Amino acid sequence: MARVLLENVIKIFDGEITAINNISLDIVDKEFMVIVGPSGCGKTTILRMIAGLEDITKGAIMIDGKVVNNTPPKDRDIAMVFQNYALYPHMTVYQNMAFGLKLRKYPKSEIKQRVEEAAKILGIEQLLDRKPKALSGGQRQRVALGRAIVRHPKAFLFDEPLSSLDAKLRITTRTELKALHHRLQTTSIYVTHDQIEAMILGDRICVMHNGVIQQFAAPMLVYDMPVNRFVAGFLGTPPMNFFDGRIEFKANKAYFIDSQNSICLPARMKDKLAGYNNKEVVLGIRPENLSLQPYIGQEDNCISGVVRVIEPLGNKVEVHFEITDGIRFIANVDAHIKMKIDECVLIYMDIEKSHIFELGETGINIGT
Ligand SMILES: Nc1ncnc2c1ncn2[C@@H]1O[C@H](COP(=O)(O)OP(=O)(O)OP(=O)(O)O)[C@@H](O)[C@H]1O
Ligand SMILES: [Mg+2]
Repeated sequence: MARVLLENVIKIFDGEITAINNISLDIVDKEFMVIVGPSGCGKTTILRMIAGLEDITKGAIMIDGKVVNNTPPKDRDIAMVFQNYALYPHMTVYQNMAFGLKLRKYPKSEIKQRVEEAAKILGIEQLLDRKPKALSGGQRQRVALGRAIVRHPKAFLFDEPLSSLDAKLRITTRTELKALHHRLQTTSIYVTHDQIEAMILGDRICVMHNGVIQQFAAPMLVYDMPVNRFVAGFLGTPPMNFFDGRIEFKANKAYFIDSQNSICLPARMKDKLAGYNNKEVVLGIRPENLSLQPYIGQEDNCISGVVRVIEPLGNKVEVHFEITDGIRFIANVDAHIKMKIDECVLIYMDIEKSHIFELGETGINIGT
């Protein structure tokens, strides 16, 4: 168990590629911390630096208060589980799990006890004599986890460990991983580009973009109060809808105005938007915060849209609308509501749940 601290860490590859641009992270003891972001944002690089597989260009990495910048990987007491778990094909499951301990010259009896304990935790006791080729993908991934668990490391680093599993197995293994962490309570740093996985697993999630931390907080906080447009658009399926427009103050109220609509913004935003009169901004609203019925206790803020695609999800229907000038947006509405393709309908906004962003890919959230 360990606290892992990154202080102003910079990683520049080959003197020119800035993969990590000055990040600081405090991962507390026993925490399950998830790093999430699009491909190339620097997730793997962070893990490799913590593991000691990659030098850092500037800054410090500390494990339990000790700077480990120059500590070789084998002395950091950290176990890494990769996407491609690369088991040794000629060894049995037992031998695969025992291998790292054998290299470290643990006594046979201790190795046996640790492998059996890990196999029990992972429910693979009956597979110990098999070779990897006689295992399913999920079983192989569990063996890879077992190899890390037997070491009783201070921390686990996971690099997209579920991405080679099929969709169903990914979901069950995800649940198992969460239960495993609850049981072992080992500090874990988990990398994924799957935002649902991040939300489900993380005590806290760190959203990255271009080597920079965008937001580091509890999953629901990041979901409900994204600090900028990038974070807002990254978490959530289907993603948040964005509309371009401008702010206008009328009769002491703030409005969002676009070519078709004039939407009265919540009173809580008024002060924050004071300096934005007549400025261009972006309004963001999630598909679940749109409805075909008015929101009780609110002014009717509605937009009209033409139904283009209807996708039934069982309990909800995902409807893709088009506004007359070609802009599309998505609403998640009740399944029993009847609609036809090409029909023009009124869609109400739960404006209390909306956000106003400055322009640009990482435009800040002004409204929260
Ligand atoms: N050894 C290297 N030499 C040069 N550039 C590298 C090296 N490793 C990574 N990079 C660059 O650093 C950036 C971050 O890479 P990294 O592998 O950490 O991304 P990632 O977030 O893990 O992406 P993915 O989701 O695709 O795995 C990328 O621009 C990548 O091209
Ligand atoms: Mg990666």
